[in-house]
Amino acid sequence: MKSIKRLKPLAAVVGAGRTKFGELWYKNPEELLTEAGLKAVESVEYGLMRKDLQACYFGSFLYQVTNKLALVPGYMARELGMNIPMSNTEAACGSGGSALYNACLGIRSGEYDVALVGGFEKMTDRSEKIIDDLMFAGDLHEFGAGYTFAGLYASMMARYIHDYGDGSDGKCREALALITCKNHLHAMGNEYAQFRREFSVDDVLNSPLVADPIRMLHCSPVSDGAVALVVVSPEVAKKYTDTPIYIVGSQQATDDVSICSRESLTGIKATRLAMEKVLKETGMTIGDIQVAEAHDCFTIEEIFFLEDSGFCKEGEGWKIVYDSYESFNGSKHIPYVNGNRELVVNAGGGLKADGHPVGATGVRQVYECFKQLRGEAGGNQVDTEPNVALCHNIGGTGGIATVHILMRDLSKS
Ligand code: COA
Repeated sequence: MKSIKRLKPLAAVVGAGRTKFGELWYKNPEELLTEAGLKAVESVEYGLMRKDLQACYFGSFLYQVTNKLALVPGYMARELGMNIPMSNTEAACGSGGSALYNACLGIRSGEYDVALVGGFEKMTDRSEKIIDDLMFAGDLHEFGAGYTFAGLYASMMARYIHDYGDGSDGKCREALALITCKNHLHAMGNEYAQFRREFSVDDVLNSPLVADPIRMLHCSPVSDGAVALVVVSPEVAKKYTDTPIYIVGSQQATDDVSICSRESLTGIKATRLAMEKVLKETGMTIGDIQVAEAHDCFTIEEIFFLEDSGFCKEGEGWKIVYDSYESFNGSKHIPYVNGNRELVVNAGGGLKADGHPVGATGVRQVYECFKQLRGEAGGNQVDTEPNVALCHNIGGTGGIATVHILMRDLSKS
């Protein structure tokens, strides 16, 4: 790892709050966001006055369609009783990570010292139409051809199994199901998770077919929820808490919205590019990361993350999943192991089990890492006292990827 003395933090998270994820029909979107925002503000150790907030960065995708509302800043100015600058970023399922990326830019520029970052989505109010609505983040031709997101990822998963898994006696398909089993196991101790229920490989492989080879239990669910963070400049962080979690890397990359014109169907170029940039920015290698929140909207995407991040070689992700599960001997989190690298992925259940209210997800990932690095994750706390965490949030089938690296103790490699 780069000399820690030269690792200059970009920003720090000093407070975090979230709602439960699931079917939250009793609250409208701005109430969910307000609940998460107030929890984040109230969680700040030495207190944060509302007047300390200088800007708000929100992330959401389908607010206008699901709830027939627009102008998030206006609604939130009313809810929070504030008139400070506010913006809303739309980047499909990557909206939350993009909102945080923009907040980091605001803080890095020196314009702000204290910002609120919030992600939210309310999907179940429109459950009959939501699968079509999500396709706003797909290419129009894909939508016209009858694709859904499950269909698009099914094409990618089928190609991956064809290229790397045929001839593995079904072990590749088993590995894709094991990701569900792992993430549901990880969510058992997460009080906010949409599902706290374990599944077996047989449960996954016998669940209803959604888009061959994707079955219901390979999918993240349709969810409501909101998450918020208090993000400050490193210079003022210790004014708010003795244990700020520093953001030491914040990078983003983009790619063609359509899978038809991608270089490859078996990986996400935007993830590879954002990962390269963030590792260069921090001087780290993937081996330095101890816990990661990966964007597992469908289980194949968690394998793509292992490969695109450089944790393992292309085509070998499923073997890492399979072997790690086989050699697992009993702790509550199943780490992925590749040689001397060990990585706990989706400690709170990931999108699969914690839930996926799309605009909230990227912020929820940072909430999870903030809690894990402070040792405050309660029932789903990993027992390795991690110091470095990574959050990987993508939009659509990889039209955008945002990666953040967080660190608790800057003097410890
Ligand atoms: N994982 C685990 N359980 C799930 C689930 C999921 N993804 N989706 C639904 N369930 C459960 C429900 O809780 C319910 O359980 P219960 O009978 O014990 O109450 C049961 O399965 C049926 O739920 P229902 O809402 O009727 O399922 P559905 O068939 O309408 O939807 C999917 C299931 C998989 C099609 C839906 O979750 C889906 O489309 N997910 C993908 C969302 C998406 O594309 N997001 C964007 C990613 S880029």
